[in-house]
Amino acid sequence: MSHHIVLLPGDGIGPDIIQSSVKVIERVMALEGQPVTFSEHLLGGVAIDQTGVPLPDATKEAVVQADAVLLGAVGGPKWDQGPGHLRPEAGLLGLRKALGVYANLRPVKAYQELLGASPLREDVARQVDLLIIRELTGGVYFGERERGQLANGERFAKDTMYYAESEVRRVVKRGFEAARLRQKRLTSVDKANVLDSSRMWREIVMEMAGDYPDVKVEHALVDSCAMHLVTQPERFDVVVTENLFGDILSDEAAVLTGSIGLLPSASLGEGPGLYEPIHGSAPDIAGLGIANPLGTILSSALMLRYSFNMETAAKRIEDAVAAVLANGARTKDIARPGEQVLSTDAMTEAVLANL
Ligand code: IPM
Ligand code: MN
Repeated sequence: MSHHIVLLPGDGIGPDIIQSSVKVIERVMALEGQPVTFSEHLLGGVAIDQTGVPLPDATKEAVVQADAVLLGAVGGPKWDQGPGHLRPEAGLLGLRKALGVYANLRPVKAYQELLGASPLREDVARQVDLLIIRELTGGVYFGERERGQLANGERFAKDTMYYAESEVRRVVKRGFEAARLRQKRLTSVDKANVLDSSRMWREIVMEMAGDYPDVKVEHALVDSCAMHLVTQPERFDVVVTENLFGDILSDEAAVLTGSIGLLPSASLGEGPGLYEPIHGSAPDIAGLGIANPLGTILSSALMLRYSFNMETAAKRIEDAVAAVLANGARTKDIARPGEQVLSTDAMTEAVLANL
């Protein structure tokens, strides 16, 4: 049985880091004796340039038939002026919706060797080991929107945070299940002191908790959670939250480890999974060959784990990344003054050599 991966390099540094991951995936699959094939499609700004839309039909058709999808990054200043539905980001949101990937897993763990790069004190940064599960296909990202003008001539704009019960249940279930495989602690994050959508979210979590008596559940308000992430990150094991809160908290959590360039993500639903690093397209360094490929390489490890059920192969990649970091390999984003800086290609070769 061959695995087919659809590649969506996208914009900015996307093509550089996707190329690195392909090399790693090919090598690992060969080592495991598993055939793999790839096809490449357009998404984001590059798709706008070539077809006029950020998510062409050909891409939509290809991804739903894939075994898994690996995405680089989308966006850049070139496309910032377009109307909302013609921005690269709209392509990404459409892709998530088309794949029905409602649960976005963002594991954040500190590497001992990089603690010095964290904005936190080393003794605090050392404790960071959490998994954020962000709802990805609902909430204010996908709710009704409106722009208009009031009778007095002033403009108004409206975005709606809407959740149906089933949308909450299925992602919270992922949270409980993930907690069971970790330290059995689940923090559900909401803004239940203000928002009705949050009050319903919290009710549902409380109802479901009875089915998981082995998991310790805590509810946190999003503002207080944002604070505790930097003061007491050890409070968190699995965090489950709605789309916008998860977007914000996961960037915050990501920098705790020193570099956002290292962090992978997996977006899961009932069909093909979508895997992408959580950093953006970094247009300022696109094409320079200096981007950190590790976030994408680690995303492909998540692909092997969650979509292909190849735990040993996934570990093989994660161990190789840990080994190169332990050996002092550094791309520009994680190098300290005086340390040797590797190019994207050299870092990729270092990983390949450790597989
Ligand atoms: C992310 C990104 C996206 C999001 C943008 C690019 C639309 O910030 O994946 O976190 O907000 O979901
Ligand atoms: Mn984000």
